[in-house]
Order: sequence, then structure tokens, then C-alpha cells
Amino acid sequence: MRKAQLHNDVILRADNLVKDYRIGRYTLRVLHGVTLEVRRGEFLCIVGPSGAGKSTLLHLLGILDTPTEGKVLYRDKDFASLSPSEQAYWRNRLFGFVFQFYHLMPDFTALENVAMPALVGTGLTGWRQARKKARQEALRTLELVKLAERANHRPSQLAGGERQRVAIARALINKPEVLLCDEPTGNLDTDTGKRILELLCNIREQTGCTLAVVTHDEDVAAMGGRIVHLVDGRIVQ
Ligand SMILES: Nc1ncnc2c1ncn2[C@@H]1O[C@H](COP(=O)(O)OP(=O)(O)OP(=O)(O)O)[C@@H](O)[C@H]1O
Ligand SMILES: [Mg+2]
Repeated sequence: MRKAQLHNDVILRADNLVKDYRIGRYTLRVLHGVTLEVRRGEFLCIVGPSGAGKSTLLHLLGILDTPTEGKVLYRDKDFASLSPSEQAYWRNRLFGFVFQFYHLMPDFTALENVAMPALVGTGLTGWRQARKKARQEALRTLELVKLAERANHRPSQLAGGERQRVAIARALINKPEVLLCDEPTGNLDTDTGKRILELLCNIREQTGCTLAVVTHDEDVAAMGGRIVHLVDGRIVQ
């Protein structure tokens, strides 16, 4: 019973992941058989030196990329057998992504950027209604990251920490099960970075989502629950 309970708590499982990149005739092995369990609701930090394969691993966990060998299982479900459009559907529903350089659309307002993932897959029928609903939800999510008053600003009119809060709101709008963050404080000064991290921790507490953060920053790692070290494509104890 206890074992079954523990098993159910695993939301994501990387099973012996190998990732190779082909560069001409040369093959670069970036991950050398990574096995990792992520438990529902936990705060996981993946730390390690530059080039260790942290981003690669995060991309595999979020079905942004496919492993050369091994599997990623979401609650025992293997997405590898699904078509690219089915994978995109699940990626958009289950995962929220936050990146170091925000990746906001410069010609759209904060509100429009946040609303976008909620409109993915909306057809022409019911578009207006869906758009209205998405904008309302975007505003609520901007309130969650304390940025509602900047809803109509474009990214260029926002400070770095504010841009990252917009990016976090965009990652949250579809109420993801897992929030995957790649160096979310890497482009921010220490204080702003600390506030972003506190925000991520609060969001995890409020929503119960699982939080996986890739970072170089030992201070960031010190705030997390569990730390996994990745060195040269291997998890080290
Ligand atoms: N698309 C690609 N093609 C070829 N090599 C790649 C590709 N993406 C990453 N790599 C290589 O894989 C290795 C791991 O890259 P990755 O970006 O996962 O490292 P990282 O741990 O995230 O580093 P950093 O902390 O600098 O972000 C690096 O040597 C990188 O050059
Ligand atoms: Mg990286």
C-alpha cells in the first residue's frame, strides 16, 4: 500500500535518458543515462556547471525534445508514441515553461502574451468568446504575479523582473501540473532574482503545482526542497 502510494506520487519519471546531438559526422553525447523521479508538488532544483546538460534534460522532461534512448513518463504515460500534434496538445496542457530571456512577443501587450497559450487550438467558431475568456483569465493570472496594472504594457516598457513575471503568468494560464524553469533568475540582479524565486515558491504553495528549476545559482538552490546535481550529463550524488 505504502509502495503504491509512493508510486502514485511520482508525476514525472526520466528513465535512463540518453541524448545525442549529431554535428556533421560527429555525435556528441550530452546525457549519459539519466534516471530521475519528480514527485507531485515538489520543488526540485537541477544544478550543475555550464554544458552539463541541464537545459537538455529540462526540455526532455517537458516534451520539447525527444531522447535518443530512454523514456520520459508522465504518470506512467509515455508521450513518445504520440504524434507531434498530440504531443503539443499535452505539452500545452500539462507544462508551463519559464526561460532565462523571457521569450515574450515584443509586439503584444503583457495581457496578450499571457493570454496566448489559452488560445492555442481555438478554431474560428467561438473565437470571440474564447478570446474574451482568455483575456479575463490572463488578467487574473497577472494579478497572481502582481502585475495587473501593467497589463497593457509591451515587454519593452517593462523592467527585467516584470518581464519575467509576465512570462511566469503566461506559463501559468493553462494551470499546468508542472512548471519547468530554465535559469529564471539568470538575467536579473540578485534582489529581483530573489523576488522572482519567492514568487515561484508562493505559486507552488498556492496552486500545488510541481516546480522544477534549473539554475547555476546556489542561493536559488538553497531555497528549493531537493537538489539534483548534473555533471557531464550524469546525475551525481
Ligand atoms: N542543438 C544542439 N546541437 C548540438 N549540441 C548541443 C545542442 N544543444 C545543446 N548542445 C550541447 O549540449 C551540451 C549541453 O547543453 P545544455 O544547454 O543542456 O547545457 P546546460 O547545462 O543547460 O548549460 P548552461 O548552464 O550553460 O545553460 C553542451 O555542450 C551544448 O553545446
Ligand atoms: Mg542551460
